[in-house]
Amino acid sequence: MDLLAKCKQFVRHKEIQDAGFYPYFRPISSSLGTEVVINGQKMLMIGSNNYLGLVSDPRVKEAAANAALKYGSGCTGSRFLNGTLDLHEELEYELAKFLKKEKAQVFSTGFQTNLGAISCLVGKNDLIFADRSDHASIVDGCRLSFGRTIKFKHNDMEDLERLLKVNDNDCGKLIVTDGVFSMEGDICDLPQIVRLARKYGARILVDDAHSLGVLGENGRGTTEHFGLGDETDMVMGTFSKSFASLGGVIASSTEVIDYIRHFSRALIFSASIPPASVAACLKALEIIQKEPQRRKRLWDITERVHTEFKGMGFNIGLTQTPIVPIYVGDEMQTFQICRALSDAGLFTNPIIPPAVPPGQGLIRTSYTATHTDGQIDRVLETFRKVGKKFGII
Ligand SMILES: Cc1ncc(COP(=O)(O)O)c(C=O)c1O
Repeated sequence: MDLLAKCKQFVRHKEIQDAGFYPYFRPISSSLGTEVVINGQKMLMIGSNNYLGLVSDPRVKEAAANAALKYGSGCTGSRFLNGTLDLHEELEYELAKFLKKEKAQVFSTGFQTNLGAISCLVGKNDLIFADRSDHASIVDGCRLSFGRTIKFKHNDMEDLERLLKVNDNDCGKLIVTDGVFSMEGDICDLPQIVRLARKYGARILVDDAHSLGVLGENGRGTTEHFGLGDETDMVMGTFSKSFASLGGVIASSTEVIDYIRHFSRALIFSASIPPASVAACLKALEIIQKEPQRRKRLWDITERVHTEFKGMGFNIGLTQTPIVPIYVGDEMQTFQICRALSDAGLFTNPIIPPAVPPGQGLIRTSYTATHTDGQIDRVLETFRKVGKKFGII
């Protein structure tokens, strides 16, 4: 049997391309924040994770450009060896302060952060309790660890407690969850997770990729949102969303971070974040703290969109955040609706299994503080027309 035979047999993407609905790898040729140009067509972007609109902020762009001029275009090595700049250390210091943790460690992507942190912390006899809807990077971090992973039903604290009880062995235990679930937009039940972790002697890792800059009075994420203090042992975040850059961070106590710094293969054997991305992230972090009005605007838009979508009869599930899924169900219809929205000038993302459970295809929409009221009017009107045409409202 030829190893590559499966590649020849894989034709699903071609079938969808031939049907004219293929929605992936769309090349953006120009981006003006909330508007992008694809194949010459101007589109309103409601498919990005640019929550605070900082990707096109002139201050962020200037910081990135200046860092490239000062330090060069890359670091040509890992943080462990030749790839640490004073800028990386400054960013780690500022992030630890922002997240109210003793120390922070930056990785080259958010994906690598979960992969590198989970796999090095969870040993052979340890257990991981992971939400079924956790991000792929958590799933892969668990797979890469030598411990055993036990999945609990999505955000179901009764199920988590049942599993903790059944597996109450004398071993290291980690509960790992997204803070905000990236497709569904709901928020994990962190207060209950904290209670259960204490009761059963487990540690907690929260992935705040979609929460930093968004949730909590100061944008510090899920822990701040629930008014919790230092109960979350480890907080992870990415720079590819509110922070308008690329990279990831994990923050915790000094000893945990020092351990990760010396045992995480994804950190030690991979090149560090380029200067421009570090500087962009540092500037974004400064703006996030100085300009809370951005977060307020994002939440005003979010509340309006939730109310109006629900009023029109769309099923938006249990979202509580600027990630607003429109549940369609059928996979092909999800592609068709995405294509109709695209023809009408809206960039959205069709999400199908395995990113969501079977039969729960959805159109993922997400909002940005710099969307204008007029742009939101257009989004809602377009959805109303398309939703009626396809009979989902
Ligand atoms: C919840 C969650 N965790 C981790 C990641 C990975 O982050 P990055 O894209 O920065 O590698 C993502 C991004 O898609 C995410 O949504």
